[in-house]
Amino acid sequence: MGTPRLQIRPDNPDFLDLPWGEPIDDWNHDRLVKMPRGVHRHSVVFVAYDEGVYAIKELPVRVARNEYQVLGAIQELTHRAAEPAGLMERTWLDPHDEPSAAVITRYVEHAFPFRSLVSGPGFGARRRQIVDALASLMVELHLSGFFWGDCSLSNALYRYDAGEIESIMIDAETSEIHNRLSRGQREHDIAILTENLAGEMADIAVMSGADLDHADLWLGEDIATGYHALWTELNEELVITADEGYRIRERISRLNDLGFSVHDVEIEPTSEGRLVRMKTRVGGRTFNSDRLAAVAGIDASENQARVILGDLSYFLAKNEFDSRTQKAVGVFQWMTTVFQPLIDRISEIWHGEDPLQGYCDFLHHRMSLATVRGRDVSNEEAFESWVESGFPGFPLKGD
Ligand SMILES: Nc1ncnc2c1ncn2[C@@H]1O[C@H](COP(=O)(O)OP(=O)(O)OP(=O)(O)O)[C@@H](O)[C@H]1O
Ligand SMILES: [Mg+2]
Repeated sequence: MGTPRLQIRPDNPDFLDLPWGEPIDDWNHDRLVKMPRGVHRHSVVFVAYDEGVYAIKELPVRVARNEYQVLGAIQELTHRAAEPAGLMERTWLDPHDEPSAAVITRYVEHAFPFRSLVSGPGFGARRRQIVDALASLMVELHLSGFFWGDCSLSNALYRYDAGEIESIMIDAETSEIHNRLSRGQREHDIAILTENLAGEMADIAVMSGADLDHADLWLGEDIATGYHALWTELNEELVITADEGYRIRERISRLNDLGFSVHDVEIEPTSEGRLVRMKTRVGGRTFNSDRLAAVAGIDASENQARVILGDLSYFLAKNEFDSRTQKAVGVFQWMTTVFQPLIDRISEIWHGEDPLQGYCDFLHHRMSLATVRGRDVSNEEAFESWVESGFPGFPLKGD
């Protein structure tokens, strides 16, 4: 036995107090905490520090190094992947042994494996959201040059995001980062997803005692179809005449409506004189969350940010904060008199984990109430009614 080699990324604990001399399954330590887990091959434990909760996964050195490196490289490109915190190597063991290394990632808050959603009773109603969430996750990862190699219902987590579902990838053992993925690489990744999901859906049906004929074996295929549609929408080239500049703005605003931020627009003349070819380069689905962070310093997920920005604009318009300077004052007033006090009240009484989601649910309730009553409803009145009605959330589309 010896001392492990530890590599830690900034802003994380040093993890030196953990009993690395033993395999993690044998640990009996104060820092261990129980958290929901998907189906997994490797040993995984969770530990709590002041800095937050972390997941530790043991695996052979080569795969561990790959996962740590790939997760690190993708952090600047997308927010949709688990954040690596450290890499531990037990240098005294054979590097092919399972416990020869471990990857430490930040625990993804308020999130659960898709597998639990798919096996649960709410699956039918949420199927469309699951398809959209996984299709857009694949598009975002591929836009960043990320080949996953193992998309599955246990390797992706979901989190409620206002009325939608947000997805996060957490398992990158087989992943690769490239400057750009070829069509063949993307199709290969989608084929792996389709195959994994068919197997998992069959497995879930068998485990729950259902007939295989009733298993939803097409979930993966539908995600693939959603993926292709979104990829085309985002990467399509448009040919326009040189005086149709408004069509560029239209396209950017359509992509922003989908939540994608546009990094830049390339315009090239075509050989046909007045025609130009236009191509947009899109980044992740962070348009609204980037804006909310810039305007108010609030770190929310994409749809939550869209809903909260709506509340802020409503406040600014209603209180007639019009000019730029007035708006800055208005944002401050909204933060101190509306947003923060409500978040504090929600944190005290709400059953959910993520107060921002509670705030979004509350805003949705306020809007429904205003529609029913045909007039504006004050926050106080809406909050009382939200609490009395048992904290209703967003209805599913189609309800
Ligand atoms: N950073 C994290 N945040 C939240 N949950 C996590 C995190 N890392 C792992 N988990 C939980 O632990 C489970 C297993 O993790 P992971 O998929 O990385 O390992 P694995 O399943 O052993 O790998 P493989 O897919 O090769 O079998 C996940 O399904 C997830 O529920
Ligand atoms: Mg896994």
